[in-house]
Amino acid sequence: MSKTIVSLMNVEKWYGDNHVVKNMNVNIAEGEFLTLLGPSGCGKTTTLRMISGFELPTMGMIKVQGESVEKKEPYQRDVNTVFQNYALFPNMNVFDNVAYGLKVKKVPKDEIKERVLHMLKLVQLEGFEKRRITQMSGGQKQRVAIARALINRPKVLLLDEPLGALDLKLRKQMQIELKRLQKKLGITFVYVTHDQEEALTMSDRIAIINQGVLEQIDTPINIYQHPKTKFVAGFIGESNILDAIVLEDHDHKAVIGMEVGRGTVEDPDDSLAVNDPVSVSVRPENMLFSETPIEGFNLKGVVKEHIYVGNIIKMMITLNDGTEIKVNRFRSEDLADIGKMVYLYWELDKGVVIKEKHLVNTDAVRDIEGGVADDEDE
Ligand SMILES: Nc1ncnc2c1ncn2[C@@H]1O[C@H](COP(=O)(O)OP(=O)(O)O)[C@@H](O)[C@H]1O
Ligand SMILES: [Mg+2]
Repeated sequence: MSKTIVSLMNVEKWYGDNHVVKNMNVNIAEGEFLTLLGPSGCGKTTTLRMISGFELPTMGMIKVQGESVEKKEPYQRDVNTVFQNYALFPNMNVFDNVAYGLKVKKVPKDEIKERVLHMLKLVQLEGFEKRRITQMSGGQKQRVAIARALINRPKVLLLDEPLGALDLKLRKQMQIELKRLQKKLGITFVYVTHDQEEALTMSDRIAIINQGVLEQIDTPINIYQHPKTKFVAGFIGESNILDAIVLEDHDHKAVIGMEVGRGTVEDPDDSLAVNDPVSVSVRPENMLFSETPIEGFNLKGVVKEHIYVGNIIKMMITLNDGTEIKVNRFRSEDLADIGKMVYLYWELDKGVVIKEKHLVNTDAVRDIEGGVADDEDE
């Protein structure tokens, strides 16, 4: 287990009556690349600014290297920030921008020169020392900003959507470069983005934030394969999410009822009970279909559309209540024709159970069983 370098303990932030960060608890490990991911306005920047010291938590505590930073100014924290708009000095050349932090600290000239040249090499800007900032492209400015933030060798680098202004191709290239740089230097990165693909590409762990609440923190693969909430399942990658209640539960399996049919999921630790509200999340690539009914399932739908998206083909299937189910395949031979009725199902381990309370019309679910609700009504 690696050491914790930053911890947020019961951190809350209010702006007036706007509760923007809610009981946030995170331990960030030394050398980790942690990404805060969530939609615009969910509290990512605010969380980052509390770590850097530009904002104070309304309640709770933040520790850097085991010490509370409550009374420390931003410059006293062993933390530096790369801002989205770069915040470079436009009237200085590249060398002076990067050297700035060292000059302020009165580091000897020779050492400054050596460290700046070394840093410029690391961010692949060798030979650009004398260039004016105004003569640099967006990607180059971004590299200068990173070099400037790293020159003081902070223990933790905070990056707030640093690639947001770059075009897609450059952004993808910078994602890989930044990740390599981070691993090489061994500096802890806390990275903010609203782009799930970026988070999946770069992070050791991803913290998913929704309306100020940390919904899940885990490795990219675990987040993708085992989302704990509907929000996470829907935000990371694509998913088909169906609300249901547990109708039967035995032999480590549960039959779940939706308003439009039934399905089966695993219950390895017998944690489900009859009548529990659950949702099942099935990735489009894991949604299977058949011309004949499959045991344990009776979800019927009609194929409405085939959509070609680069190397995959999406098939849209509509259930009786209008719910759209997405199915992804690589080959057109693997699709069903438009207008065809199919039975949907999934491999049991590909139906991820989400134990999050939701409202489901229990009577409607019972109805499709042709049992309980009907009998009582008559
Ligand atoms: N200085 C501020 N004063 C008042 N409200 C703010 C301030 N900064 C952010 N907010 C509000 O806090 C919420 C979270 O903002 P922010 O942390 O910037 O979100 P994100 O970075 O995830 O897009 C938003 O509702 C935003 O309007
Ligand atoms: Mg932000």
